[in-house]
Amino acid sequence: MTGYFITVEGSDGSGKSTQLQNMIAYLQQRGLDVVVTREPGGTPVAEAIRALILDPSHTAMTAETEMLLYAASRAQHVAEKILPAKQAGKVVLSDRFVDSSIAYQGYGRGLGDMVAWVNDIATGGLRPDLTIFLDVPPEIGMARKQREVQHQMDRLEQEEMAFHQAVYAGYLALCKAEPERICRVDATGTAEEVFEQIQKTLDAHLGFLEKR
Ligand code: TYD
Repeated sequence: MTGYFITVEGSDGSGKSTQLQNMIAYLQQRGLDVVVTREPGGTPVAEAIRALILDPSHTAMTAETEMLLYAASRAQHVAEKILPAKQAGKVVLSDRFVDSSIAYQGYGRGLGDMVAWVNDIATGGLRPDLTIFLDVPPEIGMARKQREVQHQMDRLEQEEMAFHQAVYAGYLALCKAEPERICRVDATGTAEEVFEQIQKTLDAHLGFLEKR
């Protein structure tokens, strides 16, 4: 048993939280043992690093510090939670993973290729078996976020539109580079329409999972 590692990616306001809930329910319904987690975070140490990164008062944080903190939180998350669960044969479902760092720090902050090198150290080379990318152009995504009255914008969400556009370009580049792993889902429609597409992708992969 080697388990299965699924990640969900998307720009801010892509409806990721709703679709994650739908995915968890669907996978459990199929009788799979699912471990749900998120980045940055997922373990006590990684969650402490998360609070540090997202704190809106930390305006002095450099791009390099930010990249290293995301990677540090990931190293802990992989070692303490993702790998053990995967080795126990479970389906691990993570809200974000390395692709977020490539898009946000690599493209958004302009740190480029070094993000992938640093993250290879953090993950020990672990890669998702499947990634669902919820595709929403940043103009639509940020407008959705701003409409959520209760929502407190974190440090990254407060960035300018040019930053979010660069992040989005990063995701599109990743989709182009790794079409086998990353499944791009048009997330501009209703939650039901979006989940219909996700379900099709999961079904295509679950067939293999259930046969083991
Ligand atoms: P979160 O509250 O989880 O936002 P979301 O609901 O959009 O996932 O905050 C995570 C923020 O951190 C989000 O703006 C994306 C960003 N991020 C990075 O910049 N790099 C990373 O490696 C990760 C995992 C997240």
